[in-house]
Amino acid sequence: MAKSVLARLDEAVDGFCLRTRYFREEMTKGRAHMFAMQHRLNTRQRNSVLKLKVATNCPDWDTRIGIIRACSEEVIADHEHGGGRAHWEILEDLGTRIGLSRKKIQAAKPIATTQLAWSAWEGLMANRHWLEGIVANTCAERANVPGYGTGVMKKHGWFGLERERWGRLFNLSNGELEFFGLHEKADIAHSDAGWRAVERFAGQLHMEDAVVAACERNLQVWEMYLNGIGEAGDKSARY
Ligand SMILES: [Fe+2]
Repeated sequence: MAKSVLARLDEAVDGFCLRTRYFREEMTKGRAHMFAMQHRLNTRQRNSVLKLKVATNCPDWDTRIGIIRACSEEVIADHEHGGGRAHWEILEDLGTRIGLSRKKIQAAKPIATTQLAWSAWEGLMANRHWLEGIVANTCAERANVPGYGTGVMKKHGWFGLERERWGRLFNLSNGELEFFGLHEKADIAHSDAGWRAVERFAGQLHMEDAVVAACERNLQVWEMYLNGIGEAGDKSARY
């Protein structure tokens, strides 16, 4: 029997988790600083621009509202997991606990690879079939679900891995690392909704191969985005 489309998507996410240098190499202070600044910008761009384009293109009302709800938790207020704060605000708070001033975080500009990722995602999310867009919206959050990659990541997901290594590096408690903890829950919910939509519509629309290809391409962009943060973090730490 041919592999199910979800099994093929899972395989793509697993490959991303296994190969991305940013996950495999050591976390450093410089890299963590760069992540806090770039990812705050990235989550704002993705959830106020890119994912909303996918919602606009989506004809299934429940799926569309689900996307907008998830975006609103990210950029406006998350009452369920974040005590009413947006996720980028929670990440800003975390940045101040690892030695960055709020002023510096707020003044950060996207580095070249972040900007390139936004341009690439524009092409992969804005003028695409909405089902490919749903995959683009959720494939990286999927890495926060346990079961992909190896070691701590396989056991607790990508942000479980970050919680562990940031905790060790900066001596922070789980409460202080809430940005990662809340995503272990929020992203399971967000990415499940995406995966369910694909399961429901890919066969119906004869788009199995297209959604798998979309998943692979989007994760290549994520790989470049994260490795770019690693490299820029290493450079800035040398000053
Ligand atoms: Fe988030």
